[in-house]
Amino acid sequence: MKKFGDDWSDKPNDMLQWIIDEVAARNEPMEEVVRVVLLINFAAIHTSSSSFTHALYHLAANPEFITPLREEIEAIVMVDGWTKIAMGKMWKLDSFMRESQRYNGINSISVMRKALKSFTLSDGTYIPKNTILVTPALATHFDNENYMDPTVFDPFRHVREKEQDLSASKHHPGRFFAANELKAMMAHVIVNYDVKFEKEGIRPENVYTGLTIQPDPDAKILFRKRESSLN
Ligand code: HEM
Repeated sequence: MKKFGDDWSDKPNDMLQWIIDEVAARNEPMEEVVRVVLLINFAAIHTSSSSFTHALYHLAANPEFITPLREEIEAIVMVDGWTKIAMGKMWKLDSFMRESQRYNGINSISVMRKALKSFTLSDGTYIPKNTILVTPALATHFDNENYMDPTVFDPFRHVREKEQDLSASKHHPGRFFAANELKAMMAHVIVNYDVKFEKEGIRPENVYTGLTIQPDPDAKILFRKRESSLN
């Protein structure tokens, strides 16, 4: 950037470059780039690995979920390859991952905010300055006003919702980086391995620490390599 200025022909279009541009625009020292990268790593890595592990545990406890997922992934990858377009077509995988997020979110609450000034919501609720506000993620996810049989892990419930409401963009998969990242990893596991727990059919209990909902850190999964039709 010192040599070419703000723009040049093969300037990268990636997160590192966006951060460098922003830090430079704010006239902050370049050490700030490192701080931001570390912060994003912190936000991105434990959330993704915990979410992936939760979903993997559902698969290992219920190997009967594997066949429909594998059929979907193999049929799509044979046509579209391992591409972002292919990820977007994997409705069953999307529903399975989403159900795992519903059943075991990253936290029992979400959207933690502190009111910096007093205000009144449109329904008349008064929020005094300095109040800490959160949304009840777990309670919302297990409310039968929102989900039929919420205590049941139903891997393909969101496929049914989506089929009934095709126009709704909220059901559209693959909008977010994290969704693609998790689906790509899970699709790879599903087509290349059979997975199960030693004690068949039993998913280890989650560990609730403060607000976080973690998969059991000590559970062991058995992986068996299989011949994939995609190889
Ligand atoms: C399944 C994976 C993920 C989950 C469950 C997750 C969950 C969350 C949650 C609950 C918040 C707080 C939202 C709020 O209070 O408004 C958050 C914020 C954030 N996440 Fe993620 N996240 C995931 C993946 C990622 C990835 C992959 C990245 C970066 C590439 C990332 C970067 C961030 C950042 C930077 C924030 C702070 C945003 C802000 O306060 O302005 N997350 N995430």
